[in-house]
Amino acid sequence: MQFSNFDIDHFLAEHWQKKPLLIRNPWTEWRNPVTPDELGGLACEDHIESRLITQSQEAEHHNWEAENGPLPEDRFSQLHKAPWTLLVQAVDQIVPDVAALITPFRFIPDWRIDDVMVSYASDGGGVGPHFDHYDVFLIQGLGRRRWQLGGRCDDSTELLPHDHLRLLARFDVQDEWVLEAGDILYVPPGIAHNGVAIGDDCMTYSIGFRAPSRGELIADWSDDLIAGMRDDDRYADPGLSAQDNPGEITPAAIARLHNMLTEKLNDRAAFTRWFGRYNSTPKYPDIEWQPEIPLASHTIKQHLSDGKMLIRNPASRYAFVRHDADNVLLFVDGECFECAAEASQLAQKICAQDHALIDLQSITSDDALQFIASLYNQGSLFWASEME
Ligand code: SIN
Ligand code: CO
Repeated sequence: MQFSNFDIDHFLAEHWQKKPLLIRNPWTEWRNPVTPDELGGLACEDHIESRLITQSQEAEHHNWEAENGPLPEDRFSQLHKAPWTLLVQAVDQIVPDVAALITPFRFIPDWRIDDVMVSYASDGGGVGPHFDHYDVFLIQGLGRRRWQLGGRCDDSTELLPHDHLRLLARFDVQDEWVLEAGDILYVPPGIAHNGVAIGDDCMTYSIGFRAPSRGELIADWSDDLIAGMRDDDRYADPGLSAQDNPGEITPAAIARLHNMLTEKLNDRAAFTRWFGRYNSTPKYPDIEWQPEIPLASHTIKQHLSDGKMLIRNPASRYAFVRHDADNVLLFVDGECFECAAEASQLAQKICAQDHALIDLQSITSDDALQFIASLYNQGSLFWASEME
């Protein structure tokens, strides 16, 4: 999928993280990549994260209910007139045509991308007025939806009491548009929004981003640092001089203590390695992708000479950090690979392209072969023929 009419530089300067933008059908040719039936089928499968939200309308009040998937297959036939919507996460990991929707948005770096959520709504259906902590591009796939935008929200914004939904207690509509198939609405983090299906068969594809919170960075990195620390690594004060008041914690003591922390937290090289691994952890880390039988590198080479090709696991997260002209650190699914020479070129190619195919010509050195074998054996590369 491609854009024929979209000004990336203007978008980044004026809108990204700043203000919403309605983009009327910018595609060369819009095709809806998943049918409502296919989406319903996905929501019934194990290991796929989905939610069904129903509204029962009693008098003036909407009663919102949320059920988590997997849904029983007969669940949809039990739904009656009241508006409902089905949401399925990370469909890009399962349907290649949905993964292809991310391609034109790769002017935003991969490490900021979370997933593509796909929703189906019956007439009047939606998830209600809410805000998200992340940027989102809402692509109208099929049918029509009225999007209303409100003001900026934050963690102090009042929500309706609900165990599972974060609905806004108040929603002042500031803008309103009807999106048709192929139209896109960009919503920055924190902006209140509400999408309501006009007619049945309303499908929306949300390209969702992620942004670590400062709290999670500090907490998770600290856990990693602590795991490598020794109990005998302690405060020490050789050269202590007698102080006037034994009750004082002196500035010199505070400085030494504070330094014990900042020395570790300032280690940018260690932070880089940790962050790369952390950020590349798969969205669903409990799903095991490793091949049943790990292959030795010479067996992989044999398959490649037979004409087989390797391709990225669509559920894998890849990103690299450049070390110098010849070396990169490649982070894949929570692991770090130090890549030099040919392996470094390969790592950068796999990261740059959407569907980088690795064939025999791509690999001449032993190092590169070992590297590719490690990626295969940890489930981050598949044989392309297995993806069809
Ligand atoms: C939807 O697809 O209905 C909801 C997407 C969103 O508001 O983030
Ligand atoms: Co939202």
